[in-house]
Amino acid sequence: MPVYRVALLGFGNVGRALAQLLLLRKQDELRARYDLEVVVTGIATGRHGMALNPAGLDVRAALEMAAAGQDLSALSAEPPPTDGLDFVRRVAADVLFENTPVNYETGEPAISHLRLALERGMHAITANKGPVVHAFHELRRLAACQGRKFLFESAVMDGAPVFRLYEAALPGAQVRAFRGILNSTTNLILTRMETHGETLEQAVAYAQRIGIAETDPSGDINGWDAAIKVAALVTVFMGVPLKPQQVQRRGIRHLSRADVQAAAAQGQRWKLVCSARRRDDGTVEARVEPQRVGPESPLYGVMGTSSIVQLDTDVLGQLSLREDDPTPDATAYGLLADFLTAVRPG
Ligand SMILES: NC(=O)c1ccc[n+]([C@@H]2O[C@H](COP(=O)([O-])OP(=O)(O)OC[C@H]3O[C@@H](n4cnc5c(N)ncnc54)[C@H](OP(=O)(O)O)[C@@H]3O)[C@@H](O)[C@H]2O)c1
Repeated sequence: MPVYRVALLGFGNVGRALAQLLLLRKQDELRARYDLEVVVTGIATGRHGMALNPAGLDVRAALEMAAAGQDLSALSAEPPPTDGLDFVRRVAADVLFENTPVNYETGEPAISHLRLALERGMHAITANKGPVVHAFHELRRLAACQGRKFLFESAVMDGAPVFRLYEAALPGAQVRAFRGILNSTTNLILTRMETHGETLEQAVAYAQRIGIAETDPSGDINGWDAAIKVAALVTVFMGVPLKPQQVQRRGIRHLSRADVQAAAAQGQRWKLVCSARRRDDGTVEARVEPQRVGPESPLYGVMGTSSIVQLDTDVLGQLSLREDDPTPDATAYGLLADFLTAVRPG
């Protein structure tokens, strides 16, 4: 039975959920259904240490230590790496999972981590949107040269198979436009403002309390997270490299409870709508902006942390993918799906 050695660079919410799914929950199924085993040979964090063991690390112990805020270096069978690049250079692995925080401006240092992993002959898998918008073509070319895969299903819509839908199920189709709701935090905030009569600030506080919004929610509220997701979809679906700065962007900061309730009184809802359209000259117009939508729109019923993307293709007309109430496992599943895509033949 083949044993795949995997390295986890980034061991926060996503890295830990992946470790639990891959090593604890799905281990028997991977053996029985796919005849393969997984061993974790390296785990790296930013401020909580790094550990290497070519024979395999004790993942349960790593999860307990991470939950307790302890330094993971104690688990290392070798002198711990000094930084992310040193980690990728030294880890004995077939697959690198890169799950460090997104850098909207440059995509670094994740791009350098993924590039080095591919150069060293590993598959490179990430939930990080930065490398998709800032280095998709470079990393895909490098992966092809190396006979490896660069995959990123979880970067947009958690684990819902949005990239796989396009790349595996729509051969020969052209995406002319898309429209959707891609940021769960703002959708939850707008939902709370409507259903609980909360102000924007109260709804943000609620989203922070349940762990959906970050301490600094401005990336969501100002539309940056949505813009980078639009840029990622345009880059991959339309083959046009687009930076988040090129997306016309307006967030939800100026929307008041009164605005939301006035829309509701007329049977409509405010949504932070993400959209892109290919112009006749081949360029792309991409936007993130609050819009009022009515019950006739597929976006109307998408509430809370749910999301949707509606593709307009030249051959199938409108095609929608909707994800309801994702859990942290959904993101981990997207990475697991990428792993199986990378290591299985065909
Ligand atoms: N959370 C979600 O539901 C979700 C969904 C889709 C996509 N994503 C994407 O997935 C990625 C990870 O998200 P997350 O929620 O897991 O973030 P997180 O909880 O903040 O975890 C980030 C991890 O990366 C480590 N790290 C930071 N800088 C590093 C560096 N230079 N070298 C090595 N490790 C470094 C951190 O270590 P320290 O804590 O020690 O600094 C931590 O272990 C992000 O790009 C995010 O946008 C997240």
